[in-house]
Amino acid sequence: MTAKEREFDFTDRDFERIRDLAHERAGIFLSPKKRDMVYSRIARRLRALGLMTFEQYLHHLEDNDDEAQDFVNALTTNLTSFFRESHHFDLLAEQMLAIAAKRRDPIKIWSSACSTGEEAYSLAMTAIETFGSWTPPVRILATDVDTNVLQQAKRGVYASDRVSKLDEQRVKNFFVKGKGSHAGMVKIRSQVQDLIHFNSLNLLAPNWPVKGPFDAIFCRNVMIYFDKPTQYKVLSRFHPMLREDGLLYAGHSESFQHAADLFRLRGKTVFAPTSKAERSKG
Ligand SMILES: C[S@@+](CC[C@H](N)C(=O)[O-])C[C@H]1O[C@@H](n2cnc3c(N)ncnc32)[C@H](O)[C@@H]1O
Repeated sequence: MTAKEREFDFTDRDFERIRDLAHERAGIFLSPKKRDMVYSRIARRLRALGLMTFEQYLHHLEDNDDEAQDFVNALTTNLTSFFRESHHFDLLAEQMLAIAAKRRDPIKIWSSACSTGEEAYSLAMTAIETFGSWTPPVRILATDVDTNVLQQAKRGVYASDRVSKLDEQRVKNFFVKGKGSHAGMVKIRSQVQDLIHFNSLNLLAPNWPVKGPFDAIFCRNVMIYFDKPTQYKVLSRFHPMLREDGLLYAGHSESFQHAADLFRLRGKTVFAPTSKAERSKG
C-alpha cells in the first residue's frame, strides 16, 4: 500500500512506537514486513475512536488503560482450527493413558494461547474419547492474551464450515447443530465445555494466575511471534510448571534449540523438560 492510498498518515516514527509497544506489552515482534498489516489493523482503532492521526491514537493509548487491551487484541493473529496438527492429539491420548495407569489425581493440561478455543475443545474431545467417558479425569486450563477471542472461545459457537473437515462422528458426538436463526452454526456440547476453564493471561505478564504442575502444556503457534530472548523467558517459566514426565507441545515451525538447557526434542514438535541430572551434565 503506498502512502498516497492511505486514509491516515503513517510515519516511520508511528510504526516504531507501535512496534515497541507491541513487544513491551505482548512480546509480539513485528518485523518491517508487517508495516501494512499494522497500518490496517490500527487504522480500524482510529476509525472506531473517531481519531484523525496515528499520533493522536498513540497519545490516547498512553492515557487510557482500556485502550491497552484493544491495542493488543488488534495486533494478535488468531488463526487456529480443530485438531490442528493432529499427531499431537494422538500422542496426548497415549500420554493420558500412561498417566492414568500410574496415578489417580486429574491430568492437568494448559492450552496457553487458545485463541477462539478450537485447541482447548480438541483437547477435551480427545480426553472424552480416550477415557470413553463424558467426565474423564482431566482438567484443562485455556488462556489467551486477546480478550475478544477468549469470549468467542467461552461461547463455543462456530460457523459450520469450521467443523467441515472433522470426522462426521466427532461432529455428531460433540456439537449441536443450530436451527432457525442459528442455522449454519454449531455449538460445542456443554459436557465438553465443563472440562475447560477459560481465563485471560499474557505470557509476558510478571505473574501468571495459574496453578501447576501440568502434565501437558500446549503452546502452539504463538512463540513464532516472539523473538528468541522472549521465547527463552517464557520457556524458563514453563519448565518448573511441568511435571518431570510432562510434555510441551509446540507449533509446526517452532524449534527451541536455543533453550536446549530447558527442553529437549521428544517427538515431532513435542518437547520434554530437561531433568536436573541432564542439566548438571551440561
Ligand atoms: C495463531 S494463534 C494460535 C492458536 C492455537 N494455539 C493454535 O495453534 O491453533 C496465536 C494466539 O497467541 C495469542 N497470543 C499472542 N501473544 C500472546 C501473549 N503474550 N500471551 C498469550 N497469548 C498470546 C494470540 O492472541 C493468538 O490467539
